Amino acid sequence: MTHKILVATGGGDCPGLNAVIRGIVKRSRLEQDEWKVYGCIESFNGILKDKIEIVELTEEMVSGLHVKGGTIIKTTNRGGPFHFPVKQPDGSWVMEDRSQLMKQRLEELGIEAVINIGGDGSQGISMELLKIGIPVVGVPKTIDNDLSSTDFTFGFQTAVQIATEAFDKLVTTAESHNRVFIMEVMGRDAGWIALHTALAGGAEVCIIPEIPYDARNIVKKIETRYKNGMGFCNIVIAEGAKKADGKVTGSAPEAVGDPHIKLGGVGDVLRRELIDLGIEHDVRVTVLGHLQRGGTPVAYDRILATEFGVKAFELVKEHKYGNLVVYRHPNISYVPLEEALKKPHLVQPDRDFLVHTAKSIGICFGDE
Ligand code: F6P
Repeated sequence: MTHKILVATGGGDCPGLNAVIRGIVKRSRLEQDEWKVYGCIESFNGILKDKIEIVELTEEMVSGLHVKGGTIIKTTNRGGPFHFPVKQPDGSWVMEDRSQLMKQRLEELGIEAVINIGGDGSQGISMELLKIGIPVVGVPKTIDNDLSSTDFTFGFQTAVQIATEAFDKLVTTAESHNRVFIMEVMGRDAGWIALHTALAGGAEVCIIPEIPYDARNIVKKIETRYKNGMGFCNIVIAEGAKKADGKVTGSAPEAVGDPHIKLGGVGDVLRRELIDLGIEHDVRVTVLGHLQRGGTPVAYDRILATEFGVKAFELVKEHKYGNLVVYRHPNISYVPLEEALKKPHLVQPDRDFLVHTAKSIGICFGDE
């Protein structure tokens, strides 16, 4: 008997996506029945477009893929089956619900299940697909590590490694010039990348969305360092950082069908504040941006992603649909999608030992 699965990668790309795909395909080869794994090109767009774009993922195609960043089946964070952007003759865009078309096409193609690899937005789509009767298994993905049901998401450790290596480089130039360096990292509403990088890199200041900052506290920290003869200072700031007013820095999404505000620029905002508060040292800003999502996954992420791929296949095989694969130390397990999406995983300043550790070694969070 032949079974068919459709795999899609949705939302922002993330190191480890290819390793998940490889894990699914390789695990499927252990079965006596024949399993055909198809990749849906550019998230679900491949099955929603007027001309279907799906590709069979053979063992040859996935060989060695765990090392490669990005996703060989492409991704997008615009639209989806329930809001598919269609350009009108007058140049405007209309969002079409193509979910029933997707269901019909899956049936026609004989595809019995979908594995959706993506973050909270993509898994929201998984839940909606489930409601209309499409069997789905979710695999969590995000460099932000902000999903509460899993201890870690793949891609996070790679992002932290990239940010830490960049930070190490900035430290030597800061030291040489007696400068203040602000390095802005990704993470959306979660400060995990910033916090881990600050600890790994030995930052003097770490600003995260979960702890509103007051720039005066940062000035105090900087000036104390300079007074003590440590003539430089390195700051890590998360893109979603905010002051007490709760306002984030960014711009409205420009792309049709992209629901997310584009965070970015808070490093420059902080630089301006420090200068306005009288800092006379040179202050430089580096924004790491998408560098944090590119390139080869670190070993940890390759392993976690492979485990997720294997588990996702096994859930499909056992017809355990409507679940999200998760890592809960020491097991790879699964939870119902709706439970998984209830709340984001954010830093808890009063409870996370990482924050305690950072404060204990003198890292300033701008709150005191
Ligand atoms: O969620 C992953 C992430 O990289 C965030 O850290 C960042 O805010 C966002 O995606 C960037 O999205 P885009 O690729 O659309 O610019």
